[in-house]
Amino acid sequence: MKSIRTHTSRRWSSAAGLRSTSSTSFIPCGQNISPHLQQGSRATYMTQRPQKTQSPFNKVSSISICRPKYSIGNIHPSRVHQHSTYSTNATTAKQPTIDNVFESNTGTWQYIVADPATSKAVLIDPVLDYDPCTQTITTTAADSLLALVKEKGYTIDRILETHAHADHLTASSYLQKQLTQTQGFKPPIGIGKRIEQVQKLFGQRYGLAKDEYLGVFDKLFDDDESFSVGELTAKAIHLPGHTPDHLGYQIGDNVFCGDTLFHADIGTARCDFPGGDAAHLFKSGRRLLSLEDHVKIWPGHDYPPEGRDPVPWMSVRDQREQNKHLRDVVSEREFVEMRTERDRGLSAPRLLHQSLQVNIRAGRLPRKEESGHRMLRLPLKLGGLDW
Ligand SMILES: [Fe+2]
Repeated sequence: MKSIRTHTSRRWSSAAGLRSTSSTSFIPCGQNISPHLQQGSRATYMTQRPQKTQSPFNKVSSISICRPKYSIGNIHPSRVHQHSTYSTNATTAKQPTIDNVFESNTGTWQYIVADPATSKAVLIDPVLDYDPCTQTITTTAADSLLALVKEKGYTIDRILETHAHADHLTASSYLQKQLTQTQGFKPPIGIGKRIEQVQKLFGQRYGLAKDEYLGVFDKLFDDDESFSVGELTAKAIHLPGHTPDHLGYQIGDNVFCGDTLFHADIGTARCDFPGGDAAHLFKSGRRLLSLEDHVKIWPGHDYPPEGRDPVPWMSVRDQREQNKHLRDVVSEREFVEMRTERDRGLSAPRLLHQSLQVNIRAGRLPRKEESGHRMLRLPLKLGGLDW
């Protein structure tokens, strides 16, 4: 399987709140790009097929260098797009085939998880491209997912959100509409049942009409509710801490954990959003780390430091031994103190307001106003000024 990758570094990594330590130079509108990449759209096609025992720290192998095969439009020219396919056969239980696709502008892992027996699949946390410099929305990342689904011959039965993201816009609604046309039925968009708390809170904060966000998700998962992906058994696991509505999705020996655990060298997600709670995140993280050693944890983001490629999964065992925030020796008290102190120093996510307003609508666009425009709202920071 081929994929496209370029390298970037970021001034701010939203969910983990990390700053890149690599050498970067500033270009307008909040993206720092490694100098050697500002010259053009260099990309690397690569392939990666780990076996059960392969260390996730192993570097993937580049097989050729060429230009991206899609137009980058208004999106920053150095977007990363890494993709790999995994066939997971760690146990005798039925296991999925997993395609992971990295969206670098927001450092987001998107997943297509399929039952190889039936070719039925789910999409997890797809990204809608948004350029905050020009307020331009494009669907390059989502269209890449659709192309991959078509190439694989999958039928998408569900689109799953781990939570209401605050750092990128969801492509769920766009994908649902496209898939409805191509598949002849509407794949439901699923999320945790506590999304209604989040929708109410931010709907009021941004002054949205209730009918723009109430009932926009098709499926609200109960805690630990089971569902199927073709002939595979899946489960929605409540993992509060980063947000109160947060779910992970366990499919076979894999958990797609959203913003709970990240790669071991990054640790965990921030807990300072409304309804976030460091003690809850500790318990959610430990719940994941109590799974069997071989279970793969697939995070919702990666923010690789210079010299490391984005890594889509780590085993429970490796996380327990190496996660910088939640390895086995860290107590709840130590974690809560660390996380609280760290969150205190973090900036707000770059796309916070745009993300929340779109994501509590399940990715639907704001209704057209009389002017013919679709509008988002941005609270001003006045630093105490008023007149
Ligand atoms: Fe998040």
